Amino acid sequence: MTDANRLIIFDTTLRDGEQSPGASMTREEKLRIAKLLEKLRVDVIEAGFASSSNGDFEAVRAIASTIKESIVCSLARANDRDISRAAEALEPARRKRIHTFIATSPLHMEKKLRMTPDQVFEGARLAVRFARKFTDDVEFSPEDGYRSEPEFLYRVLEAAIKEGATTINIPDTVGYAVPELYGAFIRDLREKIPNSDKAVWSVHCHNDLGMAVANSLAGVMQGGARQVECTINGLGERAGNTSLEEVVMAVKTRRDFFGLDVGIDASQIVPISKLVSGITGFPVQPNKAVVGANAFAHASGIHQDGVLKARDTYEIMRAEDVGWAANRIVLGKLSGRNAFKQRLQELGIQLDSETEVNAAFVRFKDLADRKAEIFDEDIHALVSDESVTTENEHFKLLSMRQSSEMGEKPQAAVVISVAGVEHKAESEGNGPVDATLKAIESKVSSGAELLLYSVNAITTGTESQGEVTVRLARAGRIVNGIGADPDIVVASAKAYLNALNKLHSDAPRVNPQHDAVTP
Ligand code: KIV
Ligand code: ZN
Repeated sequence: MTDANRLIIFDTTLRDGEQSPGASMTREEKLRIAKLLEKLRVDVIEAGFASSSNGDFEAVRAIASTIKESIVCSLARANDRDISRAAEALEPARRKRIHTFIATSPLHMEKKLRMTPDQVFEGARLAVRFARKFTDDVEFSPEDGYRSEPEFLYRVLEAAIKEGATTINIPDTVGYAVPELYGAFIRDLREKIPNSDKAVWSVHCHNDLGMAVANSLAGVMQGGARQVECTINGLGERAGNTSLEEVVMAVKTRRDFFGLDVGIDASQIVPISKLVSGITGFPVQPNKAVVGANAFAHASGIHQDGVLKARDTYEIMRAEDVGWAANRIVLGKLSGRNAFKQRLQELGIQLDSETEVNAAFVRFKDLADRKAEIFDEDIHALVSDESVTTENEHFKLLSMRQSSEMGEKPQAAVVISVAGVEHKAESEGNGPVDATLKAIESKVSSGAELLLYSVNAITTGTESQGEVTVRLARAGRIVNGIGADPDIVVASAKAYLNALNKLHSDAPRVNPQHDAVTP
């Protein structure tokens, strides 16, 4: 494989994906995703934005200390403080990249940064120069690049490359581009900037008009970019980012057209899609390409007949190649700790300590008592459950019961612990879930607004565990709580308490793009 036909996959699920309101993740959750991203063999993991909060700093640092194969990257605005913070968080990384950016469109410079083009030019130049003091691998992005004046970009990007930027990324920050124009835009920049051959060119597209993948691929084919920035499931603010799985499978499936190679192990795509969806609580639409539940389901009789005779009549990819395995019974009531531990390993789940494995095993045994067949998806949900990985939760569910009868108002009683102190509460509600959450709220008085409540069956059949997502907002902060249990009312209580725990512990963070800071 030559460098010219190697496409670098830069995953930003943990940074741009996480910027999506409600998708914020804990350090442990980010670490679990990072480990699976490494198994997927992405080239670069953008682990976060180290200077946005202490939590983000710690997450980037934990990922930098753990990941050995992929390059670990932190975002930094174009100022010394952000860049030093990124460098500090990345210090333990075997391979590190600092990604610094500043907005260059007239609108952003004038209204958001309140800076003149000359000040932005100088800020970009000095930021790259400063970042190079910490690493040879520096990426520069002109934010809102696609809506910037080409003449101004020629100047800024030439200077950034001169100062040592090794990757130049052109964001379509607001998802305004269309494929032909975006491809031509990148090509024009590469042609007009005299030292453009000294950097790898990268595309970064948002999906507001549903064209992020098409734009990225046009940037590659027409524009000559060799890095694509993308997220698992297309996670991201508003309509999301370019979806990793779609770009990777397009390039692999249509190698005849693209003529490019990616280093990705596609068999990890579905497991990581499920992990990201489970952790963030953002479900994958059933008809989503590659990772949607129906992506390989041939429902119509004609298609089924065709697939049975010769699978390529209607299938262009093999489900198993992207990691779809038929639901397999992996473990049951009689499975021991070693079998459980081995399955965790096979699924790429690394818990941090023996205490965590023990806690997860207790949870597994409890589930196996109530559910005869334990699938891979159940195990993922089990370890996603914060109560397994977090020993000292502020709010904890101790027990609960509820009753409902046709024509009667459902009643619920809960016993929870708040900072180690036991509390009992009762309430009635419109349904058993409503009654249970009201009972909890009557004790905790969180004052949080419920933005979303959703239930998904983790596997198939009525014995499946229900996975509940609860999204809460308070004082401008939005968090997701997740809970899984064969009893969906219990899952709902767990999800609600999980969200309350996040509201209780999460420190506010800076959004790199919304909160402008001048250099
Ligand atoms: O969309 C955007 O402009 C970004 C940059 C910070 C790369 O995410
Ligand atoms: Zn972005």
